[in-house]
Amino acid sequence: MFNPTLDTRLVIEDQEFTFAPHPAVPALVWGQEGRHAVVYRMRNSHRDYALKVFRPVFRHPGLLETADALRTYREMPGMRVCDQTVLTYESHPELITQYEDLDYAMVMPWISGQTWFDYLQTRDRLTLDQSRALAESTVWVLYALEMNNLAHCDLSSGNVIVDPKQNQIHLVDVEDLYSPWLEPPPMIPAGSAGYQHIQSASHGQWGPPGDRFAGALLMAEMLSWAHPDVRRAAYGESYFAPDELQRESERLDTLRGALRIYDEQFSEAFEEAWWADSLESCPSLKTWYDLLDALPREPVSEWAPIDAKLFEEHVPTPPEIAVGRAKQAVASQQDIQRRRGCLPFLGRGCRRVLTIFSILTILVCIGGVLLLAVYPSIRQSLPPALSCGANPAAIGITFIGLVLTGKSYDVFSSF
Ligand SMILES: Nc1ncnc2c1ncn2[C@@H]1O[C@H](COP(=O)(O)OP(=O)(O)O)[C@@H](O)[C@H]1O
Ligand SMILES: [Mg+2]
Repeated sequence: MFNPTLDTRLVIEDQEFTFAPHPAVPALVWGQEGRHAVVYRMRNSHRDYALKVFRPVFRHPGLLETADALRTYREMPGMRVCDQTVLTYESHPELITQYEDLDYAMVMPWISGQTWFDYLQTRDRLTLDQSRALAESTVWVLYALEMNNLAHCDLSSGNVIVDPKQNQIHLVDVEDLYSPWLEPPPMIPAGSAGYQHIQSASHGQWGPPGDRFAGALLMAEMLSWAHPDVRRAAYGESYFAPDELQRESERLDTLRGALRIYDEQFSEAFEEAWWADSLESCPSLKTWYDLLDALPREPVSEWAPIDAKLFEEHVPTPPEIAVGRAKQAVASQQDIQRRRGCLPFLGRGCRRVLTIFSILTILVCIGGVLLLAVYPSIRQSLPPALSCGANPAAIGITFIGLVLTGKSYDVFSSF
């Protein structure tokens, strides 16, 4: 299989591309493995792109036709990845001769942000307003597809990217999109574990209602993610374990409760999808759109019947995930300062500012002592408080105090 290094250079249409390093292990190229392919982040001199390299069994000529059709949808909300170029021997003979695994590989815009999968795994907190904003963005993307007789057909946490501002989502993995004008893919999508309706396993979900069940799950996960009980209860790569879908469970009770925060109707719509015996009988995406659209525009805590304090709780990342989260270890110095509640001052950290301040104080004090030694008469004209400041003992105490303050800054900042 294609195995690029940081020295690999690809020339595609006269442009040179290099591969981006892994954020946690910078000596390695960043490749993200999905079910069908490995996706690399690469860049030319202007911007970043994703290169999706399919495993041999998933390479087929239908990808060319799909990419041509998808390009029309690249302006739709959350569908930027539809701007795809498929590399084949016919179109890029030199490249494919050099790297035969790149046959049918796809170049598309790189979407920045974390996948919804990352949120589920790490239990990263969202505020109620962020939860609502993500669900609104998701419903807008899915409803726009529905209005155009389209469906993504493989909605799952790994196929949703939350942008860094945490108010918008983008879909990836769009090759199996349903459109009345497209031929069915050679392998009909049957849904991903944790988001698969019972009927999809046997009948597939390539059709107009293909997003109704998985979409309801994703939106319910997003809406309820602000609640610490929901984050604590999450299974892993989806909120529900794959084998507990469409059954009663404690997780279901927790989720229902969290959805009621917004309105009883969210919980009802979710249950309608949960107990539906077919994708057609799940609520349409329009139903979800109307529900979210009807919510008051003010911050959720102003109108929802909740104790806002409860929602501030952080749920720790499960230890097995935390170990793999070396990303945090390479957080920038500024991030660390900000986390400590210490904003950089003129581009410098707190400790450095305190050290500079201490040295300046000492210099001023030494200057004062020397001045008094040369002109002792000044001492008589000073008020008692200031004349004591010129005492070497006072200088020493000030210095020690400042050093201790600098050293124990972390202790102070935690109060
Ligand atoms: N355009 C993109 N921009 C950024 N990340 C992407 C992009 N496309 C895919 N990814 C990342 O790569 C992972 C696998 O890609 P995906 O297209 O879902 O492959 P698969 O079809 O094998 O599931 C995704 O979960 C996502 O993290
Ligand atoms: Mg995928």
